[in-house]
Amino acid sequence: MEIVKATKSHAIELSALLKGLDTEEYSFSKVEKITPLIEEGNYYIAIDEGKIVGAIGLLIVEESCEIDALITSKKGVGKALIDFTVELCKNEHVKKLWCWSLKRYNAIGFYDKMGFKEQFLLEKHWCGEDCYIFGRVIE
Ligand SMILES: CC(C)(COP(=O)(O)OP(=O)(O)OC[C@H]1O[C@@H](n2cnc3c(N)ncnc32)[C@H](O)[C@@H]1OP(=O)(O)O)[C@@H](O)C(=O)NCCC(=O)NCCS
Repeated sequence: MEIVKATKSHAIELSALLKGLDTEEYSFSKVEKITPLIEEGNYYIAIDEGKIVGAIGLLIVEESCEIDALITSKKGVGKALIDFTVELCKNEHVKKLWCWSLKRYNAIGFYDKMGFKEQFLLEKHWCGEDCYIFGRVIE
């Protein structure tokens, strides 16, 4: 498996994977939404045997990196994408990694294992749904 920067040629396959994050109220997977992020160079994909098996979208503002989207279709890929992002943050002198995560995704155990020690549950904060904010300081 390799992790590479996504290009516009990946947009359709990436969109299909990201559908797993969509809710009735909000779409992460619309090609119009992901194309600017790809163009800004902030979408990374994990490729295994020619297929996209994971993706992470990053929004870097000064010393802070937000994970805009993270999804995988194969075990072990989530950890690989977080490890990759932590190394990228270190290289870019980014000090904080954080994300919103809808409660319904039930991903708290994953972020816990990935060392996101700051965890706050915010009620009705994402299109009326409960969601967490997870944060990790990069050391
Ligand atoms: C959450 C998600 C990204 C995790 O990716 P993954 O490839 O399954 O994660 P990994 O296999 O690398 O797991 C790393 C560790 O976290 C654990 N883990 C993974 N998902 C977990 C979960 N939902 N709850 C508890 N533990 C979890 C694994 O068991 C593993 O533990 P180990 O090291 O003791 O074996 C993936 O399941 C996914 O895409 N879920 C749907 C979308 C989603 O919830 N995205 C994140 C919200 S923004």
